[in-house]
Amino acid sequence: MTEADRRPLIIGSGIAGLYVALRARELGLRPTLVTKARLEESNTRYAQGGIAAAIGPDDSPALHLEDTVAAGDGIVDLAAARILTFEAPARIADLVRYGVPFDTVNGQIALGREAAHHRARILHAGGDSTGYQIEEALKHRVLDAGIEARERTILRAIRPGRRDGAVAVLSDADGRGVEYLNPGPIVLATGGTGSLYRQSSNPSVATGEGVAIAFRAGALLDDMEFIQFHPTVFWRPGAPRFLITEALRGEGAILRNEAGDRFMPSYHPDAELAPRDVVARAIEREIRRSQCGTVFLDATALPRDRLFTRFPSIVRFLATYGLDPSRDRIPVAPAAHFMIGGVSTDVEGRSSLPGLYACGEVASTGVHGANRLGSNSLLEGLVFGERVARQLLHPAAGGPTEPARTLAIPLSPGEGRAEEAEPLERIRDTLWEEVGIVRYAGGLRAALGTFESIAAAVEPAGADDLPGPLANAALTGRLIARAALARTESRGAHFRSDYPKRRPAWNSHLGLRRGPPGAAARGAARKR
Ligand code: SIN
Repeated sequence: MTEADRRPLIIGSGIAGLYVALRARELGLRPTLVTKARLEESNTRYAQGGIAAAIGPDDSPALHLEDTVAAGDGIVDLAAARILTFEAPARIADLVRYGVPFDTVNGQIALGREAAHHRARILHAGGDSTGYQIEEALKHRVLDAGIEARERTILRAIRPGRRDGAVAVLSDADGRGVEYLNPGPIVLATGGTGSLYRQSSNPSVATGEGVAIAFRAGALLDDMEFIQFHPTVFWRPGAPRFLITEALRGEGAILRNEAGDRFMPSYHPDAELAPRDVVARAIEREIRRSQCGTVFLDATALPRDRLFTRFPSIVRFLATYGLDPSRDRIPVAPAAHFMIGGVSTDVEGRSSLPGLYACGEVASTGVHGANRLGSNSLLEGLVFGERVARQLLHPAAGGPTEPARTLAIPLSPGEGRAEEAEPLERIRDTLWEEVGIVRYAGGLRAALGTFESIAAAVEPAGADDLPGPLANAALTGRLIARAALARTESRGAHFRSDYPKRRPAWNSHLGLRRGPPGAAARGAARKR
């Protein structure tokens, strides 16, 4: 097969998928992009705050690295974080070249602050519609480049190959028209799992099937217990959980409880700009205390003009609920936001399976450790997407190192029953209630019981049958809960009320692999 014949298949159309497709095309390859809804429908589109890069005069990649490592709470992969922060400025230059209209001040790219960043280094576009602007710019480039883009097409399974290729099983979004694509490189850029949680900042497409499908195919996963909860989404019964960006706190908005008192200074010296997990848990505690379901973000001290020009989407959204942030406090609560773990890869995006690459939220390089720094996620899609594109051109052997602690998780056949809507709602409630911001062994075991009983009904009966979306959702829930039960400590985004402290013995990543029945039930941690 010549290089030109190697047709990489890229699954997903957020920042990572679109960028890999574009770069692969520029490198002379002929990628096909597959996406399960419309090309522009992805988590990227809803990102508000921005994208981090050390391009300010008082900043440097080394300082960005320092903040990334500090936020990651002891288990950031240093090599990956160095690559992320030092290659960031070059990737931003690519976005500018692709036409992303970053906001400027006096002709220079404007830079904002966000929690746990000690410099202003958040680039934004259209005020708070950064993700939308990036998605649109990249989408138009992909279409202009004539890249084959198949919408409403879903990945159903991966059949690993022997060398640099795997077979992708695809179907249309309704599960019909199953087709097997010839072996070639597959790039998973399917995003995260946020919408499997009852309360989520993510769009409904973020259902995490990329990790379930990769796991079924035998790929190593890492750190699935680390689900990041965003502290502030809009909270009103019946209203969508619209993200209220951290950048608003970066501009000076403060958090108040139901009684009107500012509470963050009593939780952390950095107050509203403390790491995300700290702010989310503090809010959760205040909400439990007051039983009123919400706290309030108060931006009324900010200049009205500034609010309206910097946060136009939020202002527009709030207006539909009769609120004006220059006058009214915004009711907010935490929600599931970002999957920190995922398909384990090395820094070139190579998974443990030949021919299977992953980048963006679905991938786990260890770059975020236990807690992602805000605005490092869009960046991650670009930086590791670039490396994947280069691997597609010149593949070389490699892959992730299996963590010393890796659990073997069995996958048993089920009854293959037709899927229904109700169990999915049960999965969402269970993840939110038992595998949410605060976890404990009893709740995690109960959650596992729920996921396993759903799986027993909907997992395919035969090895060659294709699992449906509900079977993948139950499996993803099970993997998150299983990892959360195994990590008997609190670190970063993972908080256990029965193990509230960080434990040095857990100063490591946690791997998950498909294993023989029985192996995981013993909860054995494996040393290499
Ligand atoms: C936000 O705008 O607050 C979210 C940004 C991110 O998750 O990186």
